[in-house]
Amino acid sequence: MSYRFFVNGDPVEVEVPGMRRLLDVLREDLGLTGTKEGCGEGECGACSVLLDGAVVDSCLVPVCQVGGTSVRTVEGLAVAGGLNDLQAAFLEAGGAQCGICTPGMLMAAEAYLGAGGSRDEEAIREAIAGNLCRCTGYTKIIDAIALAAEQRRAADPH
Ligand code: FES
Ligand code: FES
Repeated sequence: MSYRFFVNGDPVEVEVPGMRRLLDVLREDLGLTGTKEGCGEGECGACSVLLDGAVVDSCLVPVCQVGGTSVRTVEGLAVAGGLNDLQAAFLEAGGAQCGICTPGMLMAAEAYLGAGGSRDEEAIREAIAGNLCRCTGYTKIIDAIALAAEQRRAADPH
């Protein structure tokens, strides 16, 4: 079967079985290896991407459900080849260690900030509740998201 959708704003078409995981389509068929596989069972969030703006575990989504949608991956965050404000905040706050959780964490955080999320710690914890990190203890990740939230509010107070 052939499926057409958008990835990071670009139209794509893949000829694959409908039950092929979106994670495999992104990594293997489209060469977008920024999205990581952790558990492969919907438990860790390492494979998180945005599907029409909502966070999904791409290891659980068959490509047949993706036709006509807009997918955003970590590769789509960069601006003009550089880090966006959220990625830069992760760098500044030390929010990444081994990096396996980082792409998924960034996508969950991007959805949170895109919805107008604040620097409130509890709200940030809730936003990344589906994303597990074995390395950081979460504190620096939360600091990074709070920093980005503050910067976005300062840039656009409305
Ligand atoms: S790899 Fe998809 S949730 Fe863990
Ligand atoms: S930085 Fe290693 S799992 Fe989060």
